[in-house]
Amino acid sequence: MHIQSLTLRNWGPYYGTQTIELRDTVYAVQAEHTDDPDRSNWIGKSWFLGAIRFLLTGVKPDSCSTEDAWISRGEKSGGVSGIFSDGSEVSRTRKLGNSTQLELRVNGKGIAKQDQAQTELDELLGMDHDDLMATCFVEQRQIARLVLADPAERTKIVNGWLELEPLQRAEDWLKGELSKLLAEDRALAAQVVSIDPGALKAAVARVDAITSKVTEIQNERSDLADQAIEMADWRRSAEFAERFKLFKQHGLATRKEVDALAPVEIEPLKLAREQASQVRSAARDREYQLRELVGDQWDGVCPKTCETCPVQDQVRTIGVSMQIELTEAESVLDDADSKYQDLDRSLTDAYRVAAERTKKLALLDHYRKEATQLLGAVDTIEEMGLPPDDTEMRERARILENLFTEAAREQVLALVERKSLEDGQKASREATKARKTLERTIRLHQEAIAVVGRQGAQKEVAEQVLGDVQNGANRLLQNAGIDLTVEVSWARDGKGLATHCEACGSSYPKTLSQKICGICGATRGPKLIEKLMIIPSDRSGAADDIAGLSFQLAASSWLRSKRSAAWAVACIDEPFGQLDRANSRALSAHLHSMIRSSFAFEQGFLVAHDAAVMEALPSRVQIVGSVNGSTLRVIG
Ligand SMILES: Nc1ncnc2c1ncn2[C@@H]1O[C@H](COP(=O)(O)OP(=O)(O)O)[C@@H](O)[C@H]1O
Ligand SMILES: [Mg+2]
Repeated sequence: MHIQSLTLRNWGPYYGTQTIELRDTVYAVQAEHTDDPDRSNWIGKSWFLGAIRFLLTGVKPDSCSTEDAWISRGEKSGGVSGIFSDGSEVSRTRKLGNSTQLELRVNGKGIAKQDQAQTELDELLGMDHDDLMATCFVEQRQIARLVLADPAERTKIVNGWLELEPLQRAEDWLKGELSKLLAEDRALAAQVVSIDPGALKAAVARVDAITSKVTEIQNERSDLADQAIEMADWRRSAEFAERFKLFKQHGLATRKEVDALAPVEIEPLKLAREQASQVRSAARDREYQLRELVGDQWDGVCPKTCETCPVQDQVRTIGVSMQIELTEAESVLDDADSKYQDLDRSLTDAYRVAAERTKKLALLDHYRKEATQLLGAVDTIEEMGLPPDDTEMRERARILENLFTEAAREQVLALVERKSLEDGQKASREATKARKTLERTIRLHQEAIAVVGRQGAQKEVAEQVLGDVQNGANRLLQNAGIDLTVEVSWARDGKGLATHCEACGSSYPKTLSQKICGICGATRGPKLIEKLMIIPSDRSGAADDIAGLSFQLAASSWLRSKRSAAWAVACIDEPFGQLDRANSRALSAHLHSMIRSSFAFEQGFLVAHDAAVMEALPSRVQIVGSVNGSTLRVIG
């Protein structure tokens, strides 16, 4: 893609609106002044190339201190617009004090403005500002820039082209992973302990010995326990036999008591007392009647008529005889009562004796029953005799109990020791196994780092690309018949030892005595300085210019083809400032074919004062300066 039409309006020295139509060829950009045909400086050649840069990137000429400064002095607005060979149209316009307006019209896509337009424009060109400046624009007095620049700055520019970033990201990621793996490995290594096989064997033997001791004690303990149970049974039998004797004694005594209580017939006594009671009642009635009849001292007056009784004396005689009868009746009553009382007492006694007997008999029965139950124990004791003294046995049991406690404690300790040794051995074995697996993964990561790292793929990519660029540049020089070659190199060994491990990325201590990475064990290599060197075979100012130009054109060609960038316009400002005539002639004779064929630009603009250049390039952009500013014209 190239420029078909370019319009400048109040752009620096170009007043008014000026449009030129352009072809796909290489133009010499030349200037002359109406007042002085020999003057070609300060007329607007650089401003012309600056207009193309501004159109594509929006960046104003370096000489302008403000954005407004590019508008022609005295004018209120200006702009640059262009039509590209694919039909796209771009314009940047500005009114004093306002912001610059960008518009992009791409065929079939409509109009985009400002930031969106810039994004689409970068896509359309296939390059952004930095890429364009590094490849398609060679500014005045900047030709040797790439050769003379600080290697770090040069490396930064070229790093962008090489697209090493994905590889560097992969390398960083791998290093991060590796350091995690190494940390894991260190943790595992800490688990690997050297276990003395003798120690485990001894521990096992200790467990076996103490276990059989414990079993022995336990056996004796349970024998003793059985004996103790038998002994207790025996003693209980002895106790029961003793109790039997007691019951027997009680029984005999009670039997005697029962026998002493002669049983009394209750019924005849009850009958006799009843009869005595009736006799006493009859005696009491007779005595009462007689007492009533005898009464107190009678006064001789009839109680009915209340008159003096005519038979007073007879009555008094009868009274005397009745008194005698009463005395007799009283005596009878006394006898009857005492007989009754005797019988009643006898009956009460008989009841008491009967109750006592019943009670004693029940007690006797109880003794008998109890004693019957103890008969077995009596038999046992008769058979076995009394239990022997078991003090010794109990003492043995007490000693055994202590021995058992002691042995059980010892057994637990021995078991714990054996388990800890076994666990340690198991963990150690597992850690060793895990380390083996891990070792493979670690090696894989280290190899991968070596493959994608600075010394691997990154170096290879850089060397490959830069080799291509170097060859392109040398071809240009050879074709031009210039006796100069450039050598491009990448990542040279520096002085001293590496500060970081190439394999795992961990840092080395300041001391140079450490030759092996403490983390991953890799050998400490030399300090590598990643830098791009462009070394011309001859070091004159001219050689630097030629080397720079050839490198830049070759790099541009490579980058544009890599990016499939559509933009193919080279803008080169006064490349031959320092060249002698012979070299200038040699180079310019080949510039057209070099720009067009070798480096595949469609269009080129080459600012030059030199007549040799003008002769070599038939097409021209002619700038004529006057007091009213500069005007543009295309010739050829
Ligand atoms: N804003 C401006 N308005 C008018 N003329 C300008 C403006 N800015 C720069 N110029 C003029 O442009 C000329 C410099 O143009 P330049 O392209 O650098 O010259 P050369 O042809 O040597 O490359 C000077 O004469 C300067 O006065
Ligand atoms: Mg200039």
